[in-house]
Amino acid sequence: MSKKTIQLDAETYPVYIGALTNGEFESLLTRKYVAAKKIIFVDENTHGCCLEYLLTHFEALGEAEVIMLPAGEEHKNIQICMQVWEAMTEYRISRNDLAICLGGGVVTDMGGFIASLYKRGIDFIHVPTSLLAMTDAAIGGKTGVDLANYKNLLGVFSTPKAVFIDPNFLETLPVIDKVGGWMEMIKHGLIADALHFAELKAVNFHEFSMPEEVIYRSLTIKNEIVKHDPFEKNIRKMLNFGHTFGHAAESFFLENTEPVNHGIAVGMGMIIESYWSWRKGLLEESDLYEICSVIIDKVGLPDLTGIPAEHFWMYMLNDKKNDRHEVRTVLLKAVGAAVYDEVVSFELLQEGLEFYHRMNKE
Ligand SMILES: NC(=O)c1ccc[n+]([C@@H]2O[C@H](COP(=O)([O-])OP(=O)(O)OC[C@H]3O[C@@H](n4cnc5c(N)ncnc54)[C@H](O)[C@@H]3O)[C@@H](O)[C@H]2O)c1
Repeated sequence: MSKKTIQLDAETYPVYIGALTNGEFESLLTRKYVAAKKIIFVDENTHGCCLEYLLTHFEALGEAEVIMLPAGEEHKNIQICMQVWEAMTEYRISRNDLAICLGGGVVTDMGGFIASLYKRGIDFIHVPTSLLAMTDAAIGGKTGVDLANYKNLLGVFSTPKAVFIDPNFLETLPVIDKVGGWMEMIKHGLIADALHFAELKAVNFHEFSMPEEVIYRSLTIKNEIVKHDPFEKNIRKMLNFGHTFGHAAESFFLENTEPVNHGIAVGMGMIIESYWSWRKGLLEESDLYEICSVIIDKVGLPDLTGIPAEHFWMYMLNDKKNDRHEVRTVLLKAVGAAVYDEVVSFELLQEGLEFYHRMNKE
């Protein structure tokens, strides 16, 4: 297991990549947290696919309390947190105890949030099990939950004590969630590293493999940005590329039909926001069509025809990234370079949607 140290403002925490059994995880449990009670947050799927591996390989977790969260974005809310906090009180979890978040981005976001508020904060570590959580959600110190279908409206910045990335967990990850993680990685390439975008184009979801170094490259792009702006005052906003429309689409689907995978929603957002980038004269037309073909040809995206733009606009107006009631977004000025705080109008949203319908049909 190789150790990469991630620096976030005054807080430093190690990120390990490789098999969990390589020693560092065991050593953390049996040294620093030897006296701590351990509580493991899983969801229904990681309970079945990932928990046994931890329990059979790490004796120190023999007496751990396991809290199973319902799987899916629709359960990433404060009501579930309330139930967990009550359970933690029953288990007499104290300030010196340790929470382990074993799951995708929903478990790392919500588990980190639960741990950070309980008794004013207990230590937590992330063991991300989805590609998206390994390359994005577990890195950077954002924790939180949704409020009334609005994404991540409640949350705190709070860093884990360590992150352990074991790509073996990806073996059981459904294809749709591999695609979702790949989308956020594509985003990292588009905003900051054209070579990373190029290497991700080659990924084959039928014979999927994601080398450790590619995972590491993606999370490093995120970390480099976060390191310079941990509290999203300026350049960290770039990581929201694809999320202005993406979050609105995710909220719309959450409220009205079946939830859509977060990464897929970001993929829809990247198409529309790349269109805005071209429309505002920032992005070359050839880059716009290249981005569309990589994202749409590779995975296909949901059909949005017939959904009025007003539905998405309503969510966009309440986006955290806005300023003084204007919808603010991130745009590309090239593949590998982004600008933030760009204003978007309702008319531009309508145009973007028309472009999306056209591209998605071709
Ligand atoms: N904090 C951040 O900086 C940040 C960044 C990006 C995304 N996010 C959040 O992350 C969430 C999306 O993350 P996600 O796509 O991982 O969602 P998720 O946690 O819902 O995981 C996707 C699905 O995969 C299942 N799963 C996870 N690991 C598995 C495994 N190894 N084997 C089998 N099934 C497995 C989960 O149970 C779930 O059904 C969203 O809530 C998003 O807002 C947060």
